[in-house]
Amino acid sequence: MIKFTVITLFREAVEPYLKTSMMWKATEKGLAQFDFVDLREFGLGPHKSVDDTPYGGGDGMLLRCEPVFAAIESVKAKSPDAKVILPTPVGKVWKQDSARELANSDAHYIILCPHYEGYDERIMSLVDLPISLGKYVLTGGELPALIIIDSVVRLIPGVLGGEKSAEIESFSDGDNLEYPQYTKPYDFRGMKVPDVLLSGNHGEIAKWRKENSGKAE
Ligand code: ADE
Repeated sequence: MIKFTVITLFREAVEPYLKTSMMWKATEKGLAQFDFVDLREFGLGPHKSVDDTPYGGGDGMLLRCEPVFAAIESVKAKSPDAKVILPTPVGKVWKQDSARELANSDAHYIILCPHYEGYDERIMSLVDLPISLGKYVLTGGELPALIIIDSVVRLIPGVLGGEKSAEIESFSDGDNLEYPQYTKPYDFRGMKVPDVLLSGNHGEIAKWRKENSGKAE
């Protein structure tokens, strides 16, 4: 079973989503497991501090090494083969193929969610998979962690209803995007469903869908 351990200062921002809909169903069916480590517990001094100012000057605060190393080591003590994911704008861009690779892996992933202006570079020595969600900057790793988990878990056989839905959807075949789909009613405020979809002619329907599939940028 695939397992994700999320190391975060903001568990309350991550947990509700994982207790909802498909993610929750995946855990109920024993197809995925999620747990949390509170980075604050590994903080230093009476204030359990986890960050400090950068050497050489500059704005903001950086995550310190000690709490992060201690938190990751606490997970690895029980699960030495767990792989560490770091969401970071300088990571490898996350794609559907990356999600598919993890979904087939049955491994334990630790997702370290940085916060503040950044992290001490020595933290990279612990990281197996630096992952970027795209060319923009977020305030922390919590949203990327959820996006990574969601995109992986939905591909695990048995999580979505019909096994076909993950197979034929967008990006399942290179950069092809899914074709437009329609449900009832046939006529909604004058906007009608393309007649070919009601024709019962599977060859024509397949042709229409192919012609109307998009391409990713
Ligand atoms: N943390 C901040 N920005 C990010 C991004 N674009 N992708 C992944 N992690 C991030």
